[in-house]
Parts: sequence; structure tokens; C-alpha cells
Amino acid sequence: MAKLEILEIPHPILTQKAAEVEEVTPQIKQLLADMLETMYASHGVGLAGNQIGQLLRVVVVDCADEEGEPDPIKMVNPKIIWRSENKICHNEGCLSVPRQYADVVRHEEVEVEYLDENGVRQTRRTGGLLAIAFQHELDHLDGILFIDHLSKLKRNMLIKRLEKRRKRVAEEMLEGDE
Ligand code: NI
Repeated sequence: MAKLEILEIPHPILTQKAAEVEEVTPQIKQLLADMLETMYASHGVGLAGNQIGQLLRVVVVDCADEEGEPDPIKMVNPKIIWRSENKICHNEGCLSVPRQYADVVRHEEVEVEYLDENGVRQTRRTGGLLAIAFQHELDHLDGILFIDHLSKLKRNMLIKRLEKRRKRVAEEMLEGDE
């Protein structure tokens, strides 16, 4: 297995639409395993193809089950086939927008249809954190980030804060070299 590099904003691939996977090959199965490993190593709860530079509709998610045990879900060509009318607000973050968080309103429950790593069609209806993660990750496949759901003002503030942080980290690294 291999840990992959996670792309951060403003990388252009993050704003592009990912293509459908035509066949769930051993390479796709390996990619899903690598994505899951990368996600765990980065302490994330979800990762989409775009984020590792692959414009393919592949997603991994793990929000743990009710007992707190791992619940890895690997999805190929996922699609939301049902959304609840009820919406909820949750403080979201993203590995591609490091250390920035903001409240996003999403559907409380969704049903997702996808192919698993063996190419078998699955559906999963869920609520709570997992439903939020599904919506967040599926957005990635369409080139949409959680910050795109915010007001322009809030979005710009968050991006500015991220740039400031990057600058500070770069400066600290330079000082460390002296
Ligand atoms: Ni994300």
C-alpha cells in the first residue's frame, strides 16, 4: 500500500469534475485501499479522487460505527438517489483546506448508490455524520468544496486565513534553517 499526496486549494483539479469509472479493476481496488490508508494517516473521515489528483469518481469514507469501531466504506461512481427534506448544520473541515472549519447546511439523511470494490452495486441510507460525509465527498467529485457553500465573504476570509497560516509555517521553516 502507498500513502498518496493530498492536493490542497487552489489546485485546479479540486475544481474539476471527475469521470465515471468504467470498470472496477484491480487497479481501482488498489487505489481505494491506498486512499483509505492516506485518509487514516491524515486523520480525515473522507477522501475523494480529486483530492489525490485522480479525476475518477472514487470515494472512501469512515465515520466509525455506533460503537466507535472502524466502518470503512469504499465507493465507485457513488450517486445520491434520495435526500431528506430536513437539513442540518454541521461544522466541516477538509484535508484539501487544512485546519479551516465552517458551518455548512446539508440534508440530514441521504441514500447513496455505488459500486463496492468488487464492482457489486450497493445502496446505503444514512443520517448524521456519515450523511454529511457522503454529501461532502460526492461534492468533491463535481469539483465543489465545502467552502463553496459559504457566503463569498466567509469563503474569502477562510482562504485568507489559510494563506496566512501557510506563510507563517514557511517563515518558521526558514528561521529553523538559520
Ligand atoms: Ni473534503
